[in-house]
Amino acid sequence: MATHNLLLVPGDGIGPEVMGEVKKLIAYMNANGMGRFETEEAMCGGCAIDAHGVPITDADMERAKATDAILFGAAGGPKWDKVAYEIRPEAGILRLRKDLQLYANLRPAVCFPALAASSSLKPEVVEGLDIMILRELTGGVYFGEPKTITDLGNGQKRAIDTQIYDTYEIERIGRVAFELARKRRNKVTSMEKRNVMKTGVLWNEVMTALHKREYSDVEFEHQLADSGGMQLVRWPKQFDVIVCDNLFGDMLSDIAAMLTGSLGMLPSASLGEINPKTKKRHAMYEPVHGSAPDIAGKGLANPIAMIASFGMALRYSFDALKEADLIDAAIANVLASGLRTADIKGDGKAASTSEMGDAIIAEFGKLA
Ligand code: NAI
Ligand code: MG
Repeated sequence: MATHNLLLVPGDGIGPEVMGEVKKLIAYMNANGMGRFETEEAMCGGCAIDAHGVPITDADMERAKATDAILFGAAGGPKWDKVAYEIRPEAGILRLRKDLQLYANLRPAVCFPALAASSSLKPEVVEGLDIMILRELTGGVYFGEPKTITDLGNGQKRAIDTQIYDTYEIERIGRVAFELARKRRNKVTSMEKRNVMKTGVLWNEVMTALHKREYSDVEFEHQLADSGGMQLVRWPKQFDVIVCDNLFGDMLSDIAAMLTGSLGMLPSASLGEINPKTKKRHAMYEPVHGSAPDIAGKGLANPIAMIASFGMALRYSFDALKEADLIDAAIANVLASGLRTADIKGDGKAASTSEMGDAIIAEFGKLA
């Protein structure tokens, strides 16, 4: 059995609480011959600012580069609102994403049957939903130069953001989309705005050529990002993998996420380039939610997003598909049994963070 290295980065607020449940799950898997995981811990965010004066140290960055996969909790909180912009907690996460070139952001939107009734959409629209939004994460308008605000001297200012995409950036995210689709329902929808944006024209051209050249077995379509967003709330089950740039992906993934329930349920993965020699890639797995300072330290946090993020690590970094499926099934069964943390609770007593974690691990053990 191969040994897998994991760098655990619990961070701030509820980060350590939800990470605690994943640690229990890892210990359970190690003890029951379901994998061999070696874990190390690193600091990122406010905790690192308190300990070292920076949101992540160079030494921890080196460990992040060396590990097979990073599991990240959450960073930030009101305690660090006043620190300088360059060393704010988020700067630690951004450094991880940028230095490891984690360009492919995977945001699954899965609707657990037990929660379909609490979606803001009709239950029949979301029941059984299982789609993947793939967002380009290291390019586009958030990073392009020039990026300025200039005083025009006549009482007016001018703000400029620049969207830049090169062929290779589009091609590599496209490849991730088609590879993902082949392991799912074999369909990719590319969203851009080629009617008004040059980057949309190139995006469309590169995706179409890549599909024709290497992935013609995959069903492929384009939609304009604005009407695509409309389709996403009208009938989301028409999609399998949606791929788009950084800006559209930011919005569409948040919309898709909310079709399915609470922030406390949503995992994500951010993947880098596959090294041709080692066949490995940098990867970071984290819940979509933040450090939730309002409930931190109270044992109220929902650990499902963090546990599901570990499930994504099993699937995308360690090829442990069986165990990843078991984690998803255990979560679904526990929800079906009626157990709920406060964020997803209807009537009745809410489970604590560790009650929810324990129940998922027990169910996982039963299914295995
Ligand atoms: P948040 O996601 O931390 O919380 C939003 C709301 O959702 C809160 O009411 C919170 O209690 C609830 N919530 C979030 N996760 C939950 C969970 N697992 N279980 C139950 N309820 C949950 O976002 P907010 O309040 O905007 O940000 C708080 C701090 O987190 C800020 O400092 C922000 O910068 C940081 N943040 C960090 C992120 C990261 O580490 N990737 C992402 C988003 C925010
Ligand atoms: Mg967003």
